[in-house]
Amino acid sequence: MVAIAILAAGRGTRMKSDLPKVLHELGGRSLVERVIHSCKEIQISRRIVIVGYRGKLVKESLLGSKGLQDDNPQFPPIEFVEQTEQLGTGHAIQQLLPHLQGFQGDLLVLNGDVPLLRSQTIKTLIAIHQEHKNSATLLTANLPNPQGYGRVFTDSQNLVQQIVEHRDCTQAQKQNHRINAGVYCFHWPDLEKILPELKADNDQKEYYLTDTVNFLNPVMAVDVEDYQEILGINDRKHLATAYDILQTRIKDEWMAAGVTLIDPNSITIDDTVKLQPDVIVEPQTHLRGQTSIGSGSHIGPGSLIENSQIGENVTVLYSVISDSKVADNSRIGPYAHLRGHAEIGANCRVGNFVELKNAQIGDRTNIAHLSYLGDATLGEKVNIGAGTITANYDGVNKHKTKIGDRTKIGANSVLVAPITVGEDVTVAAGSAVTEDVSDDCLVIARSRQVVKPGWKLNS
Ligand code: UD1
Ligand code: CA
Repeated sequence: MVAIAILAAGRGTRMKSDLPKVLHELGGRSLVERVIHSCKEIQISRRIVIVGYRGKLVKESLLGSKGLQDDNPQFPPIEFVEQTEQLGTGHAIQQLLPHLQGFQGDLLVLNGDVPLLRSQTIKTLIAIHQEHKNSATLLTANLPNPQGYGRVFTDSQNLVQQIVEHRDCTQAQKQNHRINAGVYCFHWPDLEKILPELKADNDQKEYYLTDTVNFLNPVMAVDVEDYQEILGINDRKHLATAYDILQTRIKDEWMAAGVTLIDPNSITIDDTVKLQPDVIVEPQTHLRGQTSIGSGSHIGPGSLIENSQIGENVTVLYSVISDSKVADNSRIGPYAHLRGHAEIGANCRVGNFVELKNAQIGDRTNIAHLSYLGDATLGEKVNIGAGTITANYDGVNKHKTKIGDRTKIGANSVLVAPITVGEDVTVAAGSAVTEDVSDDCLVIARSRQVVKPGWKLNS
């Protein structure tokens, strides 16, 4: 039986931020959400997050997180334990004592600021811990630059003798590049007994979780294969480095899965995004949040797509799409903006400088140039002439526009909502349509042209 505890109470002073460090975002998920997510393949009996600095915010963020909703539904709910004063990582784990009384299993402890861990790495750590019946097992790495990390000293059997924080190290100790990753598996009944023994006898006057190794036996160190996994985020530079590592990982996986990325360095993809084989992504394109893209679609260059579902064989060129859907074979852009639940049918064309907000567009409908359609429902095979605008806002409320199948709206028309235009209607160019129109009509809603032959301005 494994319970997990995630340390997320610290402010993260080195971030120089009001936001708790663990809520800083990395590729569409907060750091702490990422850490929780990294346990997705483990059989867990309890999930505990230790919160402190702006704990309410951390709690709300995790409870409202979309990214965690696709985790295993069998998982126990996330519990929150408060550490009101942040007196160190050891002090944080001491807060669990009343909550884990009588628990006989292992406690996996993860730092909330170590976001790149792979599930498999954690699994291996637990397996080795249980196989050797260790009192504690911790993840270590040999880093080219171990600056800032606690150093792990072991004997020839890989058994840990001591962990010394960077700031408490002597010059000689600093030569040891084997570092503590901040990922531990403890046999809880052993840890429970010795937790009260910790002393704040160090440079920071904090209770260090790492000091527990002085009281436990045996404690084993397990080296991680890829040291990039254990990068701890302490400042903004680390955040940028982690983002690079994450992006390389995500893009390598998509390319291996049959997605073409042209100039991958200029593309960013959140790991919440889902792509099908034979998607082509062109330079300067950014795919974020809960976005999915169907096979054969060609996205970019120069596009941003967030929280949107794109069908198959769609093209999106120099456009921004958020919280929207585009069905198969439609062409979007260049320079289109879809937002606020725009839903585009199949085989549609949404072209240059068109903005669609909360608009449902039927199949084979074209909105090719210079339009704004908001709060609108369009049927199939509609043609919207260049410069057509829905006047959906009267200064107080938003109103709906409905346009029936096969209707043609002439260029530069204004549809003053609420309004319904029927099927097979033709609206003359330059009309200001203010009243509902039934099926099969021609509508001309503009003043007649007046021509006065031979007229001249009297001087
Ligand atoms: C810690 C380890 C260090 C290790 C490094 C790996 C200790 C004493 N040191 O150092 O050996 O190499 O992680 O990244 O554990 N936190 C709390 N309550 C507190 C203090 C911290 O919940 O009172 C949380 C923080 O929010 C953070 C995590 O614990 O998520 C680690 O704290 P941090 O201050 O970053 O520890 P490091 O100095 O990086
Ligand atoms: Ca840290």
